[in-house]
Amino acid sequence: MSAEKPKILVTGGAGYIGSHAVLALEAAGYPVVILDSLEYGHPELVAQHLQAELIKGETSDRALLDKLFKTHDIGAVMHFAAYIAVGESVQAPAAYYRNNVTGTLTLLEAMLAADVKQFVFSSTCAIYGPPKTVPIPEDHPKNPISPYASSKLMVEEIVKDFTQAYGLSAVVFRYFNAAGADPQGRLGEDHQPETHLIPLVLQAALGRRDNIAMFGTDYDTPDGTCIRDYIHVSDLASAHVLGVEYLAKGGDTTFINLGNGNGFSVREVIETARQVTGEPIVAVERDRRPGDPPRLIGSSEQARNILGWQPQYADLESIIAHAWQWHLHRHGRAA
Ligand SMILES: NC(=O)c1ccc[n+]([C@@H]2O[C@H](COP(=O)([O-])OP(=O)(O)OC[C@H]3O[C@@H](n4cnc5c(N)ncnc54)[C@H](O)[C@@H]3O)[C@@H](O)[C@H]2O)c1
Repeated sequence: MSAEKPKILVTGGAGYIGSHAVLALEAAGYPVVILDSLEYGHPELVAQHLQAELIKGETSDRALLDKLFKTHDIGAVMHFAAYIAVGESVQAPAAYYRNNVTGTLTLLEAMLAADVKQFVFSSTCAIYGPPKTVPIPEDHPKNPISPYASSKLMVEEIVKDFTQAYGLSAVVFRYFNAAGADPQGRLGEDHQPETHLIPLVLQAALGRRDNIAMFGTDYDTPDGTCIRDYIHVSDLASAHVLGVEYLAKGGDTTFINLGNGNGFSVREVIETARQVTGEPIVAVERDRRPGDPPRLIGSSEQARNILGWQPQYADLESIIAHAWQWHLHRHGRAA
């Protein structure tokens, strides 16, 4: 069966979202090769739960990429590899532009040299900046306010130009907040350092941090805290499989939001985590952080219409319950 499906190169496949995408690709019968620098990422999870060969290396290593495309008959590339911390990107923009933009450019040039023209790219809702309309549609103005977000928008521009000039076909996914974990508990989120709300809340539930900070409790939202669109990582992964199928059928380059269309506030996340974990979870009120818009919710109409995508785990309870199962197993309670 799997021999009929093209081999997919997944960069960043030892990371959080990439590893879930590999799991989904393999379940759908695709052979996979992973390229990951292992600067972040978890090779032991790849070895334990995925069939894919893991090649340790950088997207900026052209010689390695040329060899990889020679030895593997790659049909499409899914490109997750990037630096992802917004705050760090403000302090160290050079590293972000080098890794996220130059690394991607090298990858794309190696792909084209090997006549591989199907590309699925991880972009972000952060390219929109503070929203003018909610839910945010794909044609919303782009106003990135961090080097991280700018690096992603630059790659989007490169993808547009390469589509025009070189016949690249791409699905660019703009994720909202990826969250949750494989429902069977094999994979999950383990960023070092962790900056995402749900894992931080669960660290507090495990006693691994004293409390969870709520930055801003006086926003113009029903409970005063910021509202974000959390999308289950397995739903993200299933969209990526659909993206590869869309490209294989000759689909044109397209830019698609991936959120679940529902917003949840910081207080709702903490309250749901209390219910799921049975732990008290101390929340403390802090000042607003600069640049945090009150509401970020994506319109996912395009993902439904173009790809036929249906999120399976759109409710906050499932997202947090799956993340909790993972964190409890992976890290355990503090001694
Ligand atoms: N996590 C989110 O909520 C979110 C939201 C929007 C967009 N994204 C995007 O999704 C992608 C995956 O994010 P994640 O949360 O899984 O991050 P992650 O850090 O868990 O995974 C990224 C992986 O890429 C690898 N990597 C980084 N630079 C590399 C390079 N130059 N060459 C080879 N490997 C490299 C890292 O070692 C890591 O394993 C990123 O592109 C990120 O910008 C994530």
